[in-house]
Amino acid sequence: MKRTLFLLLLLPVLLSAQGGMWLPMHLEKQNEKEMKSLGLKLEADDIYAPNRPSIKDAICQFSGGCTGEMISPEGLLLTNHHCGFGAISEHSTLEHNYVEDGFWAMSRADEIPCPGETAMFISRMEDVTALALLGVTEAMNERDRQSQIDKNLAQIRVNTKKEKWEEILIRPFYNGNQYFLFVTVTYTDVRLVGAPPSSIGKFGADTDNWVWPRHTGDFSLFRVYADKDNRPAPFSADNRPLRPAHFLPISLEGVAEGDFTMVYGFPGRTDEYLSASALRQTAEVTNPVRVDIRDKALKTMDRFMRNDPAIKIQYISRFASIANAWKKWLGEMQGLQTYKAVAKRQEYEAEFVRRINQNPDWKIRYNNLLPRLNQTHKDMEPYAEARDNYLETFLRNVQVMGLASGLTNWVKTYDDGNLPAFSAKIKEVDGQMAGAFREMNPAVDKAVFAVLAERFAKTMRPEWGGAYVKSEAERLGGFDKLADYLYANSALTNPDRWASLAAGDAGALGKALSQDPVLVLWRGVSKPYQEQVVPKLQELQSGLNLLQRQYMSAQMQVFKDKRFFPDANGTLRLTYGKVNGYSPRDAVRYEFRTHLDGVLEKYVPGDYEFDVPKKLIDLWKAKDYGQYAAKDGRMPVAFLGTNHTTGGNSGSPALDARGNLVGLNFDRVWEGTMSDLNYDPAICRNIMVDARYILFIIDKYAGAGYLLNEMKIVKGKRK
Ligand code: ARG
Repeated sequence: MKRTLFLLLLLPVLLSAQGGMWLPMHLEKQNEKEMKSLGLKLEADDIYAPNRPSIKDAICQFSGGCTGEMISPEGLLLTNHHCGFGAISEHSTLEHNYVEDGFWAMSRADEIPCPGETAMFISRMEDVTALALLGVTEAMNERDRQSQIDKNLAQIRVNTKKEKWEEILIRPFYNGNQYFLFVTVTYTDVRLVGAPPSSIGKFGADTDNWVWPRHTGDFSLFRVYADKDNRPAPFSADNRPLRPAHFLPISLEGVAEGDFTMVYGFPGRTDEYLSASALRQTAEVTNPVRVDIRDKALKTMDRFMRNDPAIKIQYISRFASIANAWKKWLGEMQGLQTYKAVAKRQEYEAEFVRRINQNPDWKIRYNNLLPRLNQTHKDMEPYAEARDNYLETFLRNVQVMGLASGLTNWVKTYDDGNLPAFSAKIKEVDGQMAGAFREMNPAVDKAVFAVLAERFAKTMRPEWGGAYVKSEAERLGGFDKLADYLYANSALTNPDRWASLAAGDAGALGKALSQDPVLVLWRGVSKPYQEQVVPKLQELQSGLNLLQRQYMSAQMQVFKDKRFFPDANGTLRLTYGKVNGYSPRDAVRYEFRTHLDGVLEKYVPGDYEFDVPKKLIDLWKAKDYGQYAAKDGRMPVAFLGTNHTTGGNSGSPALDARGNLVGLNFDRVWEGTMSDLNYDPAICRNIMVDARYILFIIDKYAGAGYLLNEMKIVKGKRK
C-alpha cells in the first residue's frame, strides 16, 4: 500500500522528466543518465560521435521534409509510405499503378531512379555560438544585429574545414541565443525499391490520420547510390549502393509496455516556450481561421473527388496534404483547450515572475518582459489573423491565385516596358504552366475560389482587401458569377488558351497577361495587403523575435533547475521515452499496440480508405506470420511511445535500448497533437509501425524476402 502510494506520487515526476528533442552532441551532458535510468544500454557516444561511426551515421533527412535510415550495408533506406508518396505516385500510370498495387524491385536493375529525392547525412556538428554572436551587443537593433550575425556566419563558413562533397549548414537555436553548425553530405541518386499498396501503406487514410488506434503500414524502401569512392554523385548507371558508416540492425523481439525507446530524426518545427498570450492566440484566433478555410476547401474538393475518379487521382496528393495540417490544427486547438494549456502556462509565468522578483538583477532586466510580450501579441493579433486569412485563402487553397502570385513579377517586366526580359522567361514559365495544368482541374478550383472569396470578403477588413473582393463580386452579380467570369476568361485556367498565347507573339502574350482577369484580381487583392498589412507585420514580428529571444534566455536563467531543449528547427535530434498507452478521457484506456486483427475489424470492402488486399486477408486467415508474429501469436501493426516528435520525424527510426530498429515513426495521437506547443507527457504519444509488420509485409505479403538478406536481423533479447 505504502509502496504503491509512493510510486503514484513519484509517477508525475518521472513522466514530466520526459519529452524534449535533444541535441545529439549534448546527450552525455544532458541526457545520458536519465536515458540509462529509463533502460538505455548504450553510451551517449554510441548514438552520436563526431569522429567515429555511431548511430547518427545511419540517419538522414529524406528529401528535405522527412527522415530516413540505413538498414543495410548497401544503402537500403527505410522511410514512411507518405514520405515516398511523391516518388511512388510520380511513377504510377494506369498500367503500373504503384499507388494502388504497390511496387517491389525484384532486383537492383528494377529499382526506379527518383530525381529530386535526396538523402542528407550529418558528418558532425559544432556549437559556434561565440563566433556567431561576436560583436553583437544588446544595444543593437534587430537589423544591425542580423547583419553582424550574417557577417560572422559568412566568416565561419570560410574558416570551417570540410571536404569538397560536404556542405555547411548553420542554424539559430533557442530563438537565436545559440548557433550550431552542421557539416552535411547529400546524396542525390536515390532509387525506389519497394512500397506496399496504399491499402496497407495508407490504410485508414484521412479518417484515421492523427488518430489512435491505428493500423497503417506506413513504410517504403529506397536505395541510396554513390560514386565508386562512396561519395555523392548525380544518377549514373555506374554508381554503386552507398556503404554507410553505420546501419541499423532490426530486432524481431518487439516491444513491451514500459520498454525504453528513442527516436532519431529531423523534427521540423516546434514552439514550446511561448507565452500564454501566444498560446491563446493560436488556439482562439489563428488556428480557427486556418481550419475554417481548409474545411471549406476540403469539402468542395471532396464533392468533386467523390463524383469523378479522374479528379480523385488528380487531387489525391493535394487533398492529403491540405487535410493533414487542417486536422492537426484542429486537434491542436482542442488539445490546448481540453488540457488547459493557457492556464498552465499562466501558472508557469507566475512562477517566473515570483522568481525574478527575488533577484534584484533579474527584476531590472526582466520585469517588463512578459507585459511587453503580451502587448506585442495583442497588437499583432489583427495582423496575424489577416496574414493567415490571406495566405490560406489565396496562396494555399486557390491554385490559380497561387499561380498568379508566382507570375506577377514576370508580368511586371512587360508592364515596365522590358520586353527582352519578359520574352527571355516565356519558355520557363510555359514549362511551369504545363505542370500547373496537370495538377489543376479548373472546375474544382473555380468552386473552391467562389467559396473562399466569399469568406474572404466577409472576414477580411474592408481596407485590407475585403472591400475590393466584395465590390468585384457585386459588380458581376455574386461570388459564383465572379468565379465564372474569371475562370472563363483567364489564360491561367485554360491550357489551350495558354498554349496558343505562349506560342505566339511575346508582346501579345504580355498584353493579354497584363489584362488577364485573374492577374488583375490578384493585384487588387495583394496591393492593400502588401501596403497596409505587411509593413506592420514585419515591424511587430521583429519586435516579437527580440522579445521571444530575451524571454527564452530569461527562462533558461530563471529556471536553472529545468532542462531546456531547443525548439525543433529541422536539425538532427534525439527524443526518448517509453512504450506506453494512454487515457484519452475518463474511464477509457488505450492499449499501446494494435494488431492485424484490428485491420480486419476496420475492413470495408471496396472503400477508398479501409479496403484490405486479398492476399493480406489470406495471410491473416491462415495466421501465416512466419517469424514475425509476437509471442502471443498475433501480428503486431503499430505501437505508441512517449517520444516527443513532430512533422519531419516521419520516417524516423524507433530504436530499442541497444540501438536496434523496433519501429518506424509516422504520426501522433489526436489528443496529443498540441505537443508542438505544449508537450504533456500524460497525453502526448508518437505512433510507430512495428518493425515486424514491415518485415512481414516485405517478406510474406510482397514476396520480396530477398531484401532481408542484406539486413541484419536480431532475434532474442541480449541481457
Ligand atoms: N499525420 C502524419 C504526418 O503528419 C501522416 C500524414 C500522411 N497521411 C495522410 N493521411 N495524410 O505526416
